[in-house]
Amino acid sequence: MEVKEYIKNIKQKYPIDEILVILKNFKSIKTLVIGEIIIDEYHFTIPKGRAIKDPILSVDYVYHETYGGGALAIANHVSNFTDNVTLLSLIGDRNNRMEFISKCLNPNIRTKFFVKDNSPTITKKRYLNHLRNEKLFKVEFINDYPINEKLEKDIIAFLESELPKFDLVIVGDFGHGFINQNIISLLEQKSKYLAVNVQCNSANLGFNLATKYNSASYVTMDMKEIQYTTGDRFSDIPTLMMKLKERTNFGKFLVTMGQGGAMYYHNGDIYSSPAFVKRPVDTVGAGDAVFAVTSLLAYAKEDKILPFIANCVGGIAVSYIGNKESVTKEKLISFIKGLDDEVE
Ligand SMILES: Nc1ncnc2c1ncn2[C@@H]1O[C@H](COP(=O)(O)OP(=O)(O)OP(=O)(O)O)[C@@H](O)[C@H]1O
Ligand SMILES: [Mg+2]
Repeated sequence: MEVKEYIKNIKQKYPIDEILVILKNFKSIKTLVIGEIIIDEYHFTIPKGRAIKDPILSVDYVYHETYGGGALAIANHVSNFTDNVTLLSLIGDRNNRMEFISKCLNPNIRTKFFVKDNSPTITKKRYLNHLRNEKLFKVEFINDYPINEKLEKDIIAFLESELPKFDLVIVGDFGHGFINQNIISLLEQKSKYLAVNVQCNSANLGFNLATKYNSASYVTMDMKEIQYTTGDRFSDIPTLMMKLKERTNFGKFLVTMGQGGAMYYHNGDIYSSPAFVKRPVDTVGAGDAVFAVTSLLAYAKEDKILPFIANCVGGIAVSYIGNKESVTKEKLISFIKGLDDEVE
């Protein structure tokens, strides 16, 4: 009932043609995406049961698929809305996966990759039961030790000369040893508009908080991330958002809450929007999709519609497995049109 009311209201206020114009206007935003590349491998298996000699699950391999995750996914989402996207990232000096990376990125994305020594390109393998797509376990191939001084110097030199050329800088900070404090200071000083997502995951738990940044214009985080960042796991989300606002100079920020939708802090007020999908296929990468698309909205000052679009993007992203697809204008428009069915 509440969701129906919400959709009806939004549809009255924002006819689809208006939304289309907003999305089309993103075309010329010059965007730099920075963050760790993550190669997501999904290995589909048939569980057979307990192995005879060890208390472990034995599975039959069926097939595997590889998707572009992390900054690859963010760049792909953004490049479906804008023409001018550059991706700055790190690859490893072994298993660099360049062939896959070139294949998975949309052709309108320019790239600048630096090589991290003694590292693979970050790869996360998930093993799933192929009948129900439920995940069994995950193996990470990663060296998340901080970058060395030489590499930092090269990255900083690149950013010094390139940052002024971009309208919008989108940082997907996955906390895997790429973006350090010197890089952050430079990003905060020299970006015309800085959008940031600081990801909390099993490799960096408690060590990669949004408060690494201080003056980003737009920040997104999920519920766990704002709880860690404020050191408070009991207060409600609006209280945590006000706490975060007091502690930082963030302009505006969005907290995504999985099936609970999202809340948006802007100009002293908090706006919320429900989630629209009841049976998600896979929620991996949904927050990144929301971050990518809403950064464009935040930059364009389309704040009123931002939390609604956030959940439409989230709804699309949870409807396919991992980062197998990316969010496009066409998918977004058809998702919004499809919401009519919910209202009737
Ligand atoms: N279980 C779910 N049911 C319905 N919608 C969901 C669900 N999980 C995520 N979503 C949608 O996706 C959006 C972002 O999801 P979430 O808050 O889980 O991000 P996240 O934890 O940052 O994800 P990730 O870091 O894996 O990309 C939500 O605001 C919502 O619209
Ligand atoms: Mg996330």
